[in-house]
Amino acid sequence: MKRIAVIEGDGIGKEVIPQALKALEALDFRFERVDLEVGYARWERTGTAISDEDIETLRSCDCILFGAITTPDDPDYESVVLKIRKGLDLYANVRPIRPIAAISGAVGHKNFDFVIVRENTEGLYSGIEDIGDDRACTTRVVTRKGSERIAQYACKLATARRKHLTIVHKSNVLKSDKLFLDTCRQIAEEEGITYDDRLVDSMAYSLIATPWKYDVVVTTNMFGDILSDMSGALVGSLGLLPSANIGNSHAFFEPVHGSAPDIAGEGYANPIAAILSAKMMLEWCREFKKASLIEEAINQTLCRNIRTPDIGGNSTTTEFGDAVAEYIRDS
Ligand code: NAI
Ligand code: MG
Repeated sequence: MKRIAVIEGDGIGKEVIPQALKALEALDFRFERVDLEVGYARWERTGTAISDEDIETLRSCDCILFGAITTPDDPDYESVVLKIRKGLDLYANVRPIRPIAAISGAVGHKNFDFVIVRENTEGLYSGIEDIGDDRACTTRVVTRKGSERIAQYACKLATARRKHLTIVHKSNVLKSDKLFLDTCRQIAEEEGITYDDRLVDSMAYSLIATPWKYDVVVTTNMFGDILSDMSGALVGSLGLLPSANIGNSHAFFEPVHGSAPDIAGEGYANPIAAILSAKMMLEWCREFKKASLIEEAINQTLCRNIRTPDIGGNSTTTEFGDAVAEYIRDS
């Protein structure tokens, strides 16, 4: 039996993760559940958002199901998500971008299916900062080892898909990206994967204009962060995108979106990203049948016109989660 840590986190994390858990329960997926309260609310109460002991607890689990955590505007606050990603060395952030049949995205395209593979431990999010009153500096780290392993992960994924890799970078301006680009090219050649590369700015345009051209997109940390939220518009809402943070022995599944303080507490957050994150977790646990039933349940629920306001409906988070769980139980 898998040991799974559950972190609801802050804001809408507390609303969407219970819906994912309901789906897992309806599937009769049995696991040892380890609940952890980490994040902003805990930081406000205790001055610590996540401790080294929490990281040890997470290390003792197979994987983590996570909602979202609010980051306050305080220079002393250390990002919980970054601490977990680094602490467990979850180097590959995998973000599938696929249309959902019953939802039309902002641009109206339906024929795309790509995955953003974002380097998750270095780049601009390495946490090396020198913040003064008149000058603030953030160091962007690109290593050969970091680039090699993310390229290898992306090529392995491409092998099981359409076997094409697009390397996204800004090496014309950022010399650190030359190492990333060259390393990814070399790994793609070694792995026998066809590849091309694009500068990140024109890639942003191309992903919206012609998303069907892409299969696996590999990029550095911040570019992957931005391009994946942008791709949410192709699908139809930020509330629809799941993600997996994968390492060699652990994994951490979370919606791409954040804690959405603007709608938190209202009960109308879209739980699809969280439920699809649970689906990715089931795939990681090799429970493929259960995973595909989750997707079917989401599609059937949308077809009954049960949907949250971000995708044109007026159902609540709980109504959607209940309908998904009910479909699963009746299947
Ligand atoms: P956000 O993703 O929380 O929200 C952006 C916009 O999308 C908001 O208008 C929000 O209402 C909407 N939205 C997001 N998820 C939705 C859902 N499931 N259903 C319906 N609408 C949804 O990003 P924002 O506002 O930039 O950040 C808010 C907080 O979340 C910040 O403190 C940020 O640091 C944190 N954050 C945490 C992340 C994590 O824990 N992994 C990831 C991204 C942001
Ligand atoms: Mg983000």
